[in-house]
Amino acid sequence: MKIERDFHMMKGDDEFSYAENSRMQKRAVLAAKPIVEKAVREVCIDLHPQLMVIADLGCSFGANTLLFVSEAITRICEDHNNTIKESPMEIQFFLNDLPGNDFNHIFQSLEQFEQSTTHDCACKGLQPPAHFVAGLPGSFYSRLFPSNSVHLFHSSMSVMWLSQVPEHLDGSMNEGNIHIGATTPPSVAKLYQNQFEKDFSQFLQMRCMEIVPGGRMVLTVAGRKNKDVFHAGGTTTLFELLSQGLRTLVAEGRVAKEKLDSFNIPFYCPSADELKQLVQQCELLDISDIQLLEIDGNAMDDSEQAEGISATHTAGESMSASLRAAMESLIASHFGEGILEELFTVFARNFTSYIESDVEKSGVTVITLYLQAKH
Ligand SMILES: C[S@@+](CC[C@H](N)C(=O)[O-])C[C@H]1O[C@@H](n2cnc3c(N)ncnc32)[C@H](O)[C@@H]1O
Repeated sequence: MKIERDFHMMKGDDEFSYAENSRMQKRAVLAAKPIVEKAVREVCIDLHPQLMVIADLGCSFGANTLLFVSEAITRICEDHNNTIKESPMEIQFFLNDLPGNDFNHIFQSLEQFEQSTTHDCACKGLQPPAHFVAGLPGSFYSRLFPSNSVHLFHSSMSVMWLSQVPEHLDGSMNEGNIHIGATTPPSVAKLYQNQFEKDFSQFLQMRCMEIVPGGRMVLTVAGRKNKDVFHAGGTTTLFELLSQGLRTLVAEGRVAKEKLDSFNIPFYCPSADELKQLVQQCELLDISDIQLLEIDGNAMDDSEQAEGISATHTAGESMSASLRAAMESLIASHFGEGILEELFTVFARNFTSYIESDVEKSGVTVITLYLQAKH
């Protein structure tokens, strides 16, 4: 699979879609809200642009995408309404993702979004600033914008996705694993680390050309608290349980062992130190703030969560739907669509047993970086 061309979250809004299965990612957007608000406010005060250009990178589609847009509009609306009536600020949003993203889903949601934004502002006696939303397909590992043109970059739960499976990770070097698993050789973990370093540095370099001096960047990633890549927890635990599921299918003769051995997920959870170091190497960006937060690792809605055996079963099903919404395009292109139902049923069972076990569970660690472009 060529990631830039073929990778996408599950489209539409049916029960298996990303739009219906992205509650964990929503928690990450909500966790970063205070930093996003601070960034919007600081751009307004420091740069007072007539037209503020805001880009969301790896926006996907569904409620989370518009949640970020709404946070930015509301902040500007509340801070700036009535203050500069003669020349009110306008906002241009660019929503970026890979070409396979369901951009139409976003565009079709906009009419209702506009109505509710106008209504919410009107309830506070305010008028939303004029704003314009455009979709921007392309990889964030390449140039996306003209030089010095973006005031605020935002990206949530996206830059852990690598541009490719780590370079030089070939054949069965990571036998029986699909990510950094318990039996992954340290040399393979190092290849993952190298690929992240290369990709994230490239990401920062591209953005440094595009951001206006003094502009801000808020990046939230699924990261790890622990320095040790072999004890990352969170998303890595989910990949380990998925890997177990694939090993079950190999044992049943449903999947060839070589197919499993040659599948590696292009995803890396960095530590805060790794991120800091890479930003420092970039030299054109200052770190204004860095926050580590543990968000609830449950894929169910807060209102759906209950106690007991059936609750753990439902949690297994929800997590399975959530992981499938993100991973189906990758798995189907490597193993074929025929294994999807069985694999994610086995995963749901594995996840249910995991949460019923005595093992101490952690949530998902998210790291929010607040960066400022030097003058
Ligand atoms: C887990 S989703 C997060 C989406 C959204 N920000 C949210 O909070 O729900 C990750 C998104 O990053 C996108 N993505 C991954 N690699 C990308 C790349 N190189 N360039 C642009 N988008 C990318 C994926 O297509 C996917 O939509």
